[in-house]
Amino acid sequence: MADMDERLNQWLRDAHAMEQQAEQMLDGLSRRIENYPELAARIESHIAETRSQKQRLEACIERRGSSWSGMKDLAGQFTALMQTAGGVFAGDEVVKGVLAGYTFEHMEIASYRILVAGAEAAGDTETARVCEEICREEEAMASWLEDHMAEITQAYLIRHASESDTAKR
Ligand SMILES: [Fe+2]
Repeated sequence: MADMDERLNQWLRDAHAMEQQAEQMLDGLSRRIENYPELAARIESHIAETRSQKQRLEACIERRGSSWSGMKDLAGQFTALMQTAGGVFAGDEVVKGVLAGYTFEHMEIASYRILVAGAEAAGDTETARVCEEICREEEAMASWLEDHMAEITQAYLIRHASESDTAKR
């Protein structure tokens, strides 16, 4: 039982580190978007959700008598994906951003489904409830991206064809 609880605490800390990465990635992305107001607005609202998710995870970790400080060590875990979203692109920032965002959301969805199963196994119904709730938010973001992916890609291609520099973002 102690092993199970410690494993669950570790997964909650991993999820917290993941949300920190998500916040940085989304923040970097939103600052680069100029021509896609709908996408920018959806990202802004998910940044607010992401901050709230971090707080809800902190509450779970604290309620379980564990600590979420000193988790910076884990922060490098998702660096590669973050670089995809925040790094230098060949002009197609917005399309790569959607690609990275959609990918990241699915990693989050899997992480929370694992956490729900783990919390249920450990008998922590409140953590299971919170992770279920967060999972719904990640699914909503993923399905928004899925619904708008074609439209954003085509808008980018049309803008790009006009050879305008600002079209790339
Ligand atoms: Fe999230």
